[in-house]
Amino acid sequence: MPALVVAGAQWGDEGKGKLVDYLAMRARIVARYQGGHNAGHTVVINDEKFILHLIPSGILHEGKLCVIGNGVVIDPACLIEEMDVLIARGVPIGDNLVISQNAHLIMPYHMALEAAGESLMGAKKIGTTGRGIGPAYVDKMARCGIRMADILNPPLFRERLRVNVEKANRLLACLYGAPGFDPDEVFDRYLGYAKRLERYAGNAGEVIDRALREGQNVLIEGAQGTLLDIDHGTYPYVTSSSASAGGACTGLGIGPAMITKAMGVIKAYTTRVGGGPFPTELDDELGEQLRRRGGEYGATTGRPRRCGWLDIVSLTHSVRVNGFGGFALTKLDILDGLDVIKVCTAYMLDGKITREFPADAAALERCRPVYEELAGWKESTAGVRRWEDLPENARIYVGWIEERLGIGADMIATGQRRDELIVKRENFQP
Ligand code: IMP
Repeated sequence: MPALVVAGAQWGDEGKGKLVDYLAMRARIVARYQGGHNAGHTVVINDEKFILHLIPSGILHEGKLCVIGNGVVIDPACLIEEMDVLIARGVPIGDNLVISQNAHLIMPYHMALEAAGESLMGAKKIGTTGRGIGPAYVDKMARCGIRMADILNPPLFRERLRVNVEKANRLLACLYGAPGFDPDEVFDRYLGYAKRLERYAGNAGEVIDRALREGQNVLIEGAQGTLLDIDHGTYPYVTSSSASAGGACTGLGIGPAMITKAMGVIKAYTTRVGGGPFPTELDDELGEQLRRRGGEYGATTGRPRRCGWLDIVSLTHSVRVNGFGGFALTKLDILDGLDVIKVCTAYMLDGKITREFPADAAALERCRPVYEELAGWKESTAGVRRWEDLPENARIYVGWIEERLGIGADMIATGQRRDELIVKRENFQP
């Protein structure tokens, strides 16, 4: 009963979508356990680009069951739009999608509250994706959220919505001087969404548990990355969910013993979107070059991503937090042609060398990277499909990361297309 969790080891955008797409071929179920449409997973098939925000990328394969778990927050309008775009492009959506009845919904006032809160923070703002993710999780934890099951029960939904809208309207008016919402309009709109989504609502945990007991492969897809995890990331510059592998159990409703392995996804360099500390950030021409070559612009917001060197200190933290048993290295080809590749192996913090990832974002802000230098390679790695065909220095780079992190590389991505991949170790047997 192999259940593999694929989670980002950095600040998201590691290229998980492409790997999940490959692994999905060998899985029966592909499931999402946290986050919402703040995520953007890009998959390129036969030169056709698909960007998925909520639906697991397994949907692009025939015969796969895609599950949106209870830990995900769903904007129903976005989900329906995504479904329609896929259907228009010939991807069928029917019995191949299950949405947890317990998943919480993003409501219009969540986006308004987030926008107002962020503008109040000024320079200290988190730089969220503006999708209402944080406020939706706030309501969940405050036990007043609205779940999939609730919109399928109109009298209960109307009552809960009335209280929530009143609270949100008062907050928006008093704290931010912002306009409020009409509960009847929101009710009618969400009832429309309920009609469209009703057939997909189910018990996600039960579906996954059954598949695992039948010996089927289950692929569990993380969104964002460990350094954006609400508990283990660079708080408060994080997202509001458990992006690391631990979130898979609570976000799907399966037991920890069901998870066979967690695989980390590591980009060959580092990127971050939004605010917060980033010790290896490159503010120079090289950073710009990585952004250009790597197409480092947010799949959801289009914002330019901040770019920098690989950071072994934060990755060591990620390996521990997730218990990664292996990793996939992505975008190796973006480093082609560099004379020297720097990798941060320690931080200088307040005059002392440390190899520990500080718990406090303010301390991380003061950290200066201590680099080791590795020789680059001149040859192109773009599209390479066999380990032996990589330039020697690229193999040395991968081996060096394996040694530093104490785990092996399972896969190496060498381009955007589905087949531009080196598979060193299969995680699922066919
Ligand atoms: P939120 O998830 O919209 O609340 O944003 C919180 C932080 O997480 C911001 O810095 C975002 O830029 C970042 N973030 C959220 N989703 C992603 C993602 O999919 N990739 C990269 N960064 C993300």
